Order: sequence, then structure tokens, then C-alpha cells
Amino acid sequence: MSATVIDGKAFALRIREKVAAHVARLAADHGITPGLAVVLVGQDPASEVYVRNKGKQTLEVGMASFEHKLPADISERDLLALIARLNADPAVHGVLVQLPLPAQLNSDLVINAIDPAKDVDGFHISNVGLLGTGQKSMVPCTPLGCLMMLRHHLGNLSGLNAVVVGRSNIVGKPMAQLLLGESCTVTIAHSRTRDLAAVCRGADILVAAVGRPEMITAEHVRPGATIIDVGINRITRNGKTTLVGDVDFASAAAVAGAITPVPGGVGPMTIACLLANTVTACCRANRLPEPDGLTV
Ligand code: GUN
Repeated sequence: MSATVIDGKAFALRIREKVAAHVARLAADHGITPGLAVVLVGQDPASEVYVRNKGKQTLEVGMASFEHKLPADISERDLLALIARLNADPAVHGVLVQLPLPAQLNSDLVINAIDPAKDVDGFHISNVGLLGTGQKSMVPCTPLGCLMMLRHHLGNLSGLNAVVVGRSNIVGKPMAQLLLGESCTVTIAHSRTRDLAAVCRGADILVAAVGRPEMITAEHVRPGATIIDVGINRITRNGKTTLVGDVDFASAAAVAGAITPVPGGVGPMTIACLLANTVTACCRANRLPEPDGLTV
């Protein structure tokens, strides 16, 4: 293996330390504690783990955590009423509704009911529009974490060829917008792209976010490229369950210049950026300067 392994775990720790320092300053200088409300509907085991981790890390950086666990059969009306209460609550600076939602609930309607200024996921249609037009917005956490790692590793990204594999609203599309904002030449590829390997080999920066285990291999990688693997796939191999990314790490790392591992790459950055977004939202709500280096 020749590639540098980008340590997302260590990077995320540094972000959380920055967040904690800013939270302490907000308390000491202004008597303000940023608050994050997380809403979980139903009992999806993976979502429960995410929500528990979010709550734990929110408290660890000194912020207030408000958890709302609701039954799977809650009505849209009752969920919207809770969101309206959270929007109006001055102790809450960030509101996150864990996705996916049960089928009887319209996710778009629910997400768009969140006050855009408290939309720390950056999923509200007005934040999507602001990001797409290069205006200040709340930026989705996973792409924000990816961009922070890319900037740290590569410095100025201007003029680089970036290929984003995956076109989801949560990762692929906002990632492409962020890279455009850095003056990259951006291609969005996906599962139907013809000769995907050839398209990917044009990339100085390759972001894999397709949700297909180990789909990106050495043949997709330009020598020296930087690879960001957003995938988190649970697979069973030789009778053992393991986590793998969308990139075949061993083969890709032999060709790439740098690569994020799974686990320990993008994953830890997502919650760190959620905490960063909550501090940013709190500062904006109180018309205070935003911390350096926690958003784009
Ligand atoms: N489910 C999986 N990832 C996410 C995320 O980033 N935000 C929310 N709200 N739900 C998710």
C-alpha cells in the first residue's frame, strides 16, 4: 500500500475540541448554551445507535441535548406540532429529525417544517437552495466533513477534477455543490454511469457515496488520487460481519495518493460536523461571530 490513510477519527476529535472550546466561551462570555434537539420516530436499531451517539457527544462538548423518542405510529400532525414547539424554543438552536421516517410520514414535509436557521442537517429546501447558489447556509454534515478533510489534506482544491459517485440529496448532490464552490471541475456519476471506471480515473478527488460495498476498485483510481469513502456497509465474509466502505480499500490504496478508511474515516466526521453546525446556528441566532474553521 502506498496511500496516506486520512485519519477521520483524529480529525473529528480536533473538531469536537474546537466546538467544546467555543461552547465554553459562549457560556463564559454570554451565558449561552447551544442546544441540539434530536427527534427519533420508531425503533430502527441503526437509528437508535446514531441518536444515542449524537446525544452522548453533544453533552461531551458542553452543549444541551434534547431527545424526543416518538412511537412509530405517530401522526404527521403530532410530529409537526413537536417541530413547531422546537422551532419556537429559544434553548434549542439545532433540530434534527432522524431519517428514514416511517412510511405514513412525508419526509419532505417534515424536514421543510424545521426552521431553516435551526436545520443543522442542511436538508431544508431553503438551505439546499442557498448552498446551490453559493450563499451562506447550513451545510449537510457528511459532505461538510468530507470537504474539511480534503482541504486539510490537499490545501487549495481549485482546478482539480472531482468525481462524486452517488447522487443522493444527503451526500452526493451537496458534495458536488461544495466542490464546485471550491472551483473544482465536478462530475456526478452514479450506478447507471457508462464506463464508470474510466470516468473515475479522471478524478484527482474521488468521493464514493453509492452505498454498494467495495464497488470502487483499483481500476477506478488515477495514480495519486485522493479518495473519500462515504460508504458504511455491513457485510458477512467468512462467517464474520464486518463494516466496509464503497471502496475496496486494499486494491484502491495501492494506487491512490490518500484514502479514508472505513471505519475511522468519514463516519466520525459526520457527528463532529453536526456539533459544529449547532454552534454555528447558535452564534447566528445570537448575532455573535461564528467560530473559525467549523463551517465553509
Ligand atoms: N440518517 C442517516 N444519516 C442521517 C443524517 O445525516 N441526518 C438525519 N437526519 N438522518 C440520517
